[in-house]
Amino acid sequence: MSGLQAIRYSRGKLEVLDQLKLPHEHHYDEVSTSEEAFDSIKSMRVRGAPAIAIVAALAHGVELHNGSCKAPTADETISYIDSRLDYLKQSRPTAVDLTNAITHLKTTARGVDVSGKENSASGRDAIIDAYITAAEEIFRKDTETNLLIGEHGSKWLLQNAPTKSTDGKVSVLTHCNTGSLATSGHGTALGIIRSLHSAGHLNHAFCTETRPYNQGSRLTAFELVYEKIPSTLITDSMAGALFALKKAEKNIAAVIVGADRVVRNGDTANKIGTYSLAVLAKYHGVKFIVAAPTTSIDLHTETGAGIKIEERKAEELTQISGAVVGKDGKVDVSRTECVATAHQGIDVWNPAFDVTPAELIDAVVTERGVVVKGNDGSFDFKHIMPERW
Ligand code: MRU
Repeated sequence: MSGLQAIRYSRGKLEVLDQLKLPHEHHYDEVSTSEEAFDSIKSMRVRGAPAIAIVAALAHGVELHNGSCKAPTADETISYIDSRLDYLKQSRPTAVDLTNAITHLKTTARGVDVSGKENSASGRDAIIDAYITAAEEIFRKDTETNLLIGEHGSKWLLQNAPTKSTDGKVSVLTHCNTGSLATSGHGTALGIIRSLHSAGHLNHAFCTETRPYNQGSRLTAFELVYEKIPSTLITDSMAGALFALKKAEKNIAAVIVGADRVVRNGDTANKIGTYSLAVLAKYHGVKFIVAAPTTSIDLHTETGAGIKIEERKAEELTQISGAVVGKDGKVDVSRTECVATAHQGIDVWNPAFDVTPAELIDAVVTERGVVVKGNDGSFDFKHIMPERW
């Protein structure tokens, strides 16, 4: 597994890698309260659907551990936990992992047997203990989940790849960042690429820049280089030209992306630009794979039309930050600058995500197996998630 870690945790202490400073600087912020977690998530110092949920869950666990809950009764403790989680839920609206984690944590708190100690500190402490254990479990299980997604996804792709290199390997394209930085480790879509690579089945990985926020060039490129995975960076607008080439390592078998929310019919919200890649992939006969832990699946929403898409500030399009490159061509990581890349008066539309219709998706890879469309052309998640159906 990768040594890169977005989240460092031990009971009572949570540290989060500031992804705004990557790839130039590795700085961990200590996150000890719900307010600090909210700010970290909103400002995208931590981002990626699973990582957002983990940081929110653990940050509240840390403040509970540090005695933030003064409620004298079990009922009031539950109300306190509910109010902190409801607040955290407002940080970013599109990724469903946070909502699913919150539902699970609230249910856990309510499931604690406090009979006979409803009005005592020991009733409160039992609920707090159960909460912290459940939050730690979300963090721990995420890596296990990703390793399984890697296994299932790489196996499915090798069996279904429309094209392979002469030595039987596949080349793929990924979008945004879905790796160790977006999860507790290994990653989802990037996890499949890691698994393909470690088993010797990866020919080449391409990653898009992922405008406007550049998760691809700042984060995925960093992870790929760090892991020594054969890889190439392209701008988002180069994908069609790449799919058309069909030559050597540029013979792309699949686009593999993550998900912020997969709804009941399979429509998938993911980083802006995913939908365009899916349309291009269909035209060029390239497989389109969504890697999504079951925590990213929302069975309460019927179709993509019901997904709230976050819109972000204009400056993400009109300005860019980076480390200064000297006249000698060397990057000076101690000097970062923000520069304008457009007229600051231009009107801007900046949706952070788009929705890819299920009809453009070939497979949804979860930790419980790969879901493909049935004869009626729709996805059915019932057999992998009977408990939530
Ligand atoms: O805005 P971001 O960087 O949080 O968006 C991230 C994505 O869209 C990822 O593809 C998704 O969250 C899955 S991360 C495993």
